[in-house]
Amino acid sequence: VLKQRVFSGVQPTGNLHLGNYLGAISRFVAFQNTYDCIYCVVDLHAITVPQEPQALTRQIREVTAAFIACGVDPVKHIIFNQSQVAGHAELAWVFNCVARIGWMNRMTQFKEKAGKDRENVSLGLYAYPSLMAADILLYRAHAVPVGEDQKQHVELTRDIAQKFNNDFAESIARNGFGETFFPLPEPLIQGVSTRVMSLRDGTKKMSKSDPSDYSRINLTDDADTIAQKIRKAKTDPEPLPETVEELAGRPEAENLVGIFATLAGRTREDVLREFAGGQFSTFKGALVDIAVEKLGPIGAEMQRLVADPAYIDSVLNDGSRRVRVIADETFNAVKDILGF
Ligand code: ADP
Ligand code: NA
Repeated sequence: VLKQRVFSGVQPTGNLHLGNYLGAISRFVAFQNTYDCIYCVVDLHAITVPQEPQALTRQIREVTAAFIACGVDPVKHIIFNQSQVAGHAELAWVFNCVARIGWMNRMTQFKEKAGKDRENVSLGLYAYPSLMAADILLYRAHAVPVGEDQKQHVELTRDIAQKFNNDFAESIARNGFGETFFPLPEPLIQGVSTRVMSLRDGTKKMSKSDPSDYSRINLTDDADTIAQKIRKAKTDPEPLPETVEELAGRPEAENLVGIFATLAGRTREDVLREFAGGQFSTFKGALVDIAVEKLGPIGAEMQRLVADPAYIDSVLNDGSRRVRVIADETFNAVKDILGF
C-alpha cells in the first residue's frame, strides 16, 4: 500500500525555539509511522528578509541538526534544503501566474512582517505564500503539519492547487493525468501547543525574531538558561485554577500549562489536578524539570551534530538527490500541462 505523503518546512533564520519544537518539529516525528515524510530547510524563504550569508550557512545546518536531534529519520524519510532543488523556484513562478494579487493581500503574516513600511519590503516576502504552495505541491503532498500561524498559507495552497486544476482541466486530461493534477493538501494542526506564546507577553506568539531572548526557550539553551527563563516568565498573581475553562482570560497561565502538558505527554486537566490551588513558583519548578528533561538531550545532540558539518551536508545532499526524482517528475508534468 502506498503511504500518503507529508511535507513541511522550517526557515533557517536562527533562534529555533520551543514553539517550533512543540508546534512543528515534534509533530514531524509523530507522523513518521503513518506517512512518507519530506522535511525541508526552507532557505529560499529565509532570504525574503535580509540574511548574513555565513550565518545562513550555519543556520541551515542547525535546522538540519534540529530535525535529526528531535527524531526525524533521514534514511527512512527525507531531509533536504530547498535551494538544492530548482523545482521549488520554478513551480513558484508558475504559481505566481496562477495566484491572484487579491489573495496575497489577505495574508496576515505578510501584514505583520511588513509592518508599516510595506512599500520597502522585498517582492519575495509578498510572494512567499506562492513559494510555500510550490514547496508542498512539488511533492503532491497530502498533509502539512504546521503551527496555527501557517494555517492561512496552507489554505492558500489549496486555492492555488484548485485553480491550477480548474484552469488547466482540459490539458490535464489530455496529458493523461485524469481529473485533477494536484491534491488539495490538509493542514495538520493538532494538540494544545499549536500556538506557543511568548514567555514575556501571553498575547504574542513565541517567535525567532522577538528582540527579548527571555521571550523564548531556544532548543540550544542549557539547563541553567532554561531554568532562568521559566522562573522569569510572566504570570498573574492568582494560584493555578482547577479547570481548563478557568484558564481563559489568563494567557500566561494558559500558555505555561499547555507547554507543561505537551512536554509531559499529559492532558491539561491532568496537570491542573496536580497543581490546582498552588502558586506559580511550585509549578514553575516542575516545569523547569520537565523542560530540562525533554529539551536537554535535544540541545546536546544538536551541538554534537553541528560540530560535524560534513555529516550534516551529506544528509542534505542525499536528501536532495532523492527528492529531486519526485520534483522533476512533477515539474515535467506541469510543463506538459502548460504547453511548454
Ligand atoms: P518562525 O515562525 O518562528 O519564524 P518558521 O516560520 O520557520 O518559524 O516556522 C516553522 C514552524 O514552526 C511552522 O510550522 C510554524 O507554524 C511553527 N511555529 C512557529 N512559531 C510557533 C509557535 N509560537 N507556536 C507553535 N508553532 C510555531
Ligand atoms: Na512562522
